[in-house]
Amino acid sequence: MAIRSFVLPLSTLLLLAACSAVAQLDIGYYGKSCPDVEAIVRQEMVKIISAAPSLAGPLLRLHFHDCFVRGCDASVLLDSTKGNTAERDAKPNKSLRGFGSVERVKAKLEAACPGVVSCADVLTLMARDAVVLAKGPFWPVALGRRDGRVSDAAEASRELPPSFGDVPLLAKIFASKGLDRKDLVVLSGAHTLGTAHCPSFADRLYNSTGGKDGLVDPSLDGEYADKLRLNCKSLDDAGRVSEMDPGSYKTFDTSYYRHVAKRRGLFRSDAALLTDDTTREYVRRVATGKFDDEFFGDFSESMIKMGNVGVLTGAEGEIRNKCYVLN
Ligand code: HEM
Repeated sequence: MAIRSFVLPLSTLLLLAACSAVAQLDIGYYGKSCPDVEAIVRQEMVKIISAAPSLAGPLLRLHFHDCFVRGCDASVLLDSTKGNTAERDAKPNKSLRGFGSVERVKAKLEAACPGVVSCADVLTLMARDAVVLAKGPFWPVALGRRDGRVSDAAEASRELPPSFGDVPLLAKIFASKGLDRKDLVVLSGAHTLGTAHCPSFADRLYNSTGGKDGLVDPSLDGEYADKLRLNCKSLDDAGRVSEMDPGSYKTFDTSYYRHVAKRRGLFRSDAALLTDDTTREYVRRVATGKFDDEFFGDFSESMIKMGNVGVLTGAEGEIRNKCYVLN
């Protein structure tokens, strides 16, 4: 497979990956205990994405939703139990997909190296490979994350950024994870992949002022709104989805920024990127199509930062046998 070159040299990315906030993470972490870990994940991911290319987006989103709640500790993968409603049953997580694929990859790793590779590392590698297989950039992933033992739906609802967020709110949430405004605009570029259910944005089509007034959000291009209304028939048309980057939603590219620049970003959070100097300048720059490699390098850098948020290492947490249940 061809791997795209970066504006940021690989040596810089390696340094970034190695100098994580958590020095215990290490690119060669499983060098002795499970030397083929990356090859096994890659082999399974090739099969998964060949069979279902539309899974690249959901797998990337799973990693993001994991990292923003209690750090990248695979807490998003745990099932609810009798006494506990887990993250995956929180409202913003109801539309997550790809759990079965994570279990499938984890089972392969358990067969090769039982009890060694954490679900948190599996998910981080799968997200990276999902991007690569969607024709996006490759970045090195430092490993050694441990799996958390706590997963709380209420926490997920509190910590995840809402689709109606403006830049001050989104920037505040990102800052609480050690990510800055550039990370916000760069990582929003993940919306080049995947689809969204109508209720995630239908208020922009039918309910822009908060009342049931049927008004279209003025920050949304009118022609595009008309098109979206043909698919999403009402405020709560929950069964339907729209492509977030129409025309190339299975390919990781920069066309998301061209849509946002033309006021065709799907969520208020996408549209909001045009209201702040830093984020607007970035959107417009990448939208020109002249800085694709720069965006690929930036995305790699921000994904490395996101993949290091709040990780558990050393003797913390556990290495789960199955990702959906505690040992
Ligand atoms: C900036 C704040 C963000 C907000 C408010 C946001 C919100 C959303 C929402 C509401 C959806 C649609 C869910 C649905 O209706 O099915 C979505 C989808 C998605 N998001 Fe985000 N997101 C944000 C940042 C990110 C980041 C940082 C990533 C990854 C690095 C990401 C990756 C994705 C992907 C790939 C999808 C498509 C999933 C699919 O196809 O099922 N998002 N996002």
